[in-house]
Amino acid sequence: MFKASYSLPALVAILFLIAASPALAEPSAALSIQDCVKCHDQQPAEIEAAGAAHKEAINCLECHTAHRPRVENNIPECGMCHDGEKHFELSGCLNCHNPHSPLDVTLEGELKQECLTCHTSQNEQMVASPSYHAEASCNFCHADKHGVIPQCVDCHESHSEQITQNDCQTCHAAHKPLELAYADTTPSVQCGACHDGVLSMLQASKAKHSAVGCVECHADKHKTIPQCSDCHGLPHPEGMHAKFPKCGECHNIAHDLNNWPNQDK
Ligand code: HEC
Ligand code: HEC
Ligand code: HEC
Ligand code: HEC
Ligand code: HEC
Ligand code: HEC
Ligand code: HEC
Ligand code: HEC
Ligand code: HEC
Ligand code: HEC
Ligand code: HEC
Ligand code: HEC
Repeated sequence: MFKASYSLPALVAILFLIAASPALAEPSAALSIQDCVKCHDQQPAEIEAAGAAHKEAINCLECHTAHRPRVENNIPECGMCHDGEKHFELSGCLNCHNPHSPLDVTLEGELKQECLTCHTSQNEQMVASPSYHAEASCNFCHADKHGVIPQCVDCHESHSEQITQNDCQTCHAAHKPLELAYADTTPSVQCGACHDGVLSMLQASKAKHSAVGCVECHADKHKTIPQCSDCHGLPHPEGMHAKFPKCGECHNIAHDLNNWPNQDK
């Protein structure tokens, strides 16, 4: 052990020297988070600007727990901290996320299963109602940046000048575009884009149906045909309806009521 001639202060000084001497002690050389920026500009700047929870909740050293040359690889697996959700079972986290700005997501390639780890209802609609859209990848439309919503008219021409982008979805839903349904506010002129003959006939008619909107009669779904009695019941004496079961025998068609070629007779 030590000889008694060493005084306590001297002993402390020697121990300090041993501890501080690189040759004698295991070097501590601990990097602090303040050190990183001395040699790395880019990552600290990215974290500062857009680190999100990777700035607020953790720091460099919780991910990069050591440094070369001590360790060969100090790049963390995301799964160290993120597991237990369907989304975290994906591979290639770094294809979409930059760990230093984790919410600036890049979307490359054709993605669908990846999106389904969080959004399921849109694909359920696509499966239930097959269409060309259902065959496409999600980012065929929601391209480049997460959350972007495209306009239908980016890819399609409208049916007519009277129909603009804001109208498309009163008849078509984006994820089931062939399941045509329409809002009860759809103006008749929009139906006229394809049924111009019907529209002009109805507008020219002097009967009161000319004031009734297409969708009041052809309600909810495209190609629905109403019965006259849905709205009128059976308005005439019972015996008459029994004798002439078809309203059209006397009233012609709904778009052109009572307009028989020889009705003057
Ligand atoms: C004295 C300068 C210096 C300091 C301080 C420093 N680094 Fe480095 N770092 C380097 C150099 C040089 C490399 C490249 C090493 C190589 O390629 O062999 C590097 C590489 C890295 C890598 C990539 C490693 C790899 O395997 O590709 C990471 C991650 C890293 N540093 C993180 C940090 C963190 C976190 C800090 C702060 C705790 C830090 N560095 C502090 C100089 C430094
Ligand atoms: C959430 C964990 C996490 C945090 C926090 C984090 N990094 Fe990283 N860092 C990574 C991952 C993962 C990579 C590998 C990225 C890649 O391969 O594209 C990486 C790569 C690096 C690299 C190597 C870059 C290269 O091009 O090879 C450096 C240097 C680095 N980080 C420094 C830092 C510094 C400095 C901080 C703190 C300001 C920090 N990192 C914070 C996860 C993190
Ligand atoms: C050392 C632990 C750690 C590692 C490693 C790590 N993260 Fe995180 N990450 C967190 C914490 C903590 C949060 C905030 C709480 C949460 O969302 O779980 C977070 C949040 C996030 C967020 C949401 C950010 C926000 O502000 O909402 C994303 C995206 C993310 N991490 C992606 C990744 C990816 C990708 C990797 C691998 C490159 C990774 N993380 C590695 C700890 C980590
Ligand atoms: C196809 C691209 C893609 C891949 C691959 C991917 N992510 Fe994500 N991730 C996203 C998108 C998009 C968000 C939503 C971002 C938002 O809310 O703005 C997200 C959000 C997150 C979040 C924050 C929301 C949450 O659920 O906590 C974390 C954490 C996360 N990802 C981690 C990971 C990890 C870990 C991996 C790999 C196992 C991974 N991501 C792979 C695209 C991807
Ligand atoms: C980690 C979970 C996650 C992943 C993966 C993810 N999202 Fe999201 N997404 C969200 C969250 C959270 C929101 C914002 C909340 C909301 O509006 O539902 C969002 C919003 C959206 C929106 C905008 C919704 C609106 O009403 O403005 C679209 C579009 C979208 N995501 C499409 C996608 C596509 C396409 C993918 C695949 C490339 C994807 N998302 C991957 C979580 C995710
Ligand atoms: C043909 C283009 C197209 C494709 C393919 C597509 N979407 Fe959309 N998506 C849209 C349009 C347009 C909207 C806006 C609809 C609205 O406002 O109601 C939208 C809206 C969304 C929204 C916002 C919420 C909602 O339902 O309105 C999410 C989330 C979304 N899409 C996710 C997805 C996912 C996930 C996929 C793949 C499974 C996908 N989309 C495929 C065009 C598309
Ligand atoms: C990114 C481009 C893109 C966007 C945005 C888009 N579509 Fe399409 N859509 C297509 C392509 C491509 C087809 C197949 C070829 C065609 O019929 O033009 C298609 C087909 C259709 C079809 C016929 C479906 C079938 O299976 O025959 C309808 C209806 C349709 N789109 C309506 C819409 C509506 C409504 C919107 C907006 C809610 C929209 N599209 C947004 C690209 C797009
Ligand atoms: C008033 C209802 C209505 C509105 C509004 C509407 N559509 Fe349509 N669209 C239809 C009907 C009905 C069909 C089916 C025609 C058929 O069966 O051939 C259709 C078919 C389509 C098709 C399939 C190809 C074709 O031309 O037949 C595309 C693409 C389309 N619509 C895009 C759009 C876009 C883009 C908008 C908005 C600018 C829009 N639609 C607005 C009713 C509408
Ligand atoms: C994009 C063009 C387009 C638009 C817009 C459109 N239709 Fe059609 N419609 C068609 C086609 C094509 C058919 C099938 C052709 C046929 O059977 O004569 C059809 C058929 C019909 C039928 C059934 C005909 C039958 O013989 O069974 C009705 C009813 C109808 N449409 C009503 C409407 C109404 C109401 C609107 C407005 C809300 C509308 N359509 C908008 C293209 C369109
Ligand atoms: C969606 C409801 C609806 C349907 C279906 C319907 N109508 Fe009408 N009809 C009306 C309305 C509304 C009026 C106008 C009532 C008023 O203003 O007093 C009307 C008026 C009439 C009139 C009086 C015309 C006039 O100018 O005085 C006759 C006749 C008539 N309908 C016959 C029919 C026949 C025949 C059918 C079937 C081919 C039919 N309607 C289908 C709603 C409907
Ligand atoms: C008052 C109710 C009513 C109104 C308003 C109405 N329809 Fe009809 N429509 C019918 C009925 C009922 C039939 C079946 C034939 C009949 O009995 O007259 C029909 C048949 C049709 C047909 C298939 C037969 C044909 O004539 O081509 C189309 C397409 C159609 N309507 C489109 C339209 C459009 C477009 C409008 C608006 C411009 C419209 N309808 C307004 C009740 C109406
Ligand atoms: C045998 C011929 C005949 C038949 C069949 C017939 N109607 Fe009429 N209807 C008439 C005559 C005639 C009038 C009164 C003259 C007019 O207003 O045009 C009339 C008037 C009406 C009116 C207007 C009543 C008012 O108060 O203004 C309605 C609505 C009507 N009919 C509905 C129907 C319906 C619905 C059917 C089938 C269930 C039908 N009609 C069958 C001959 C007929």
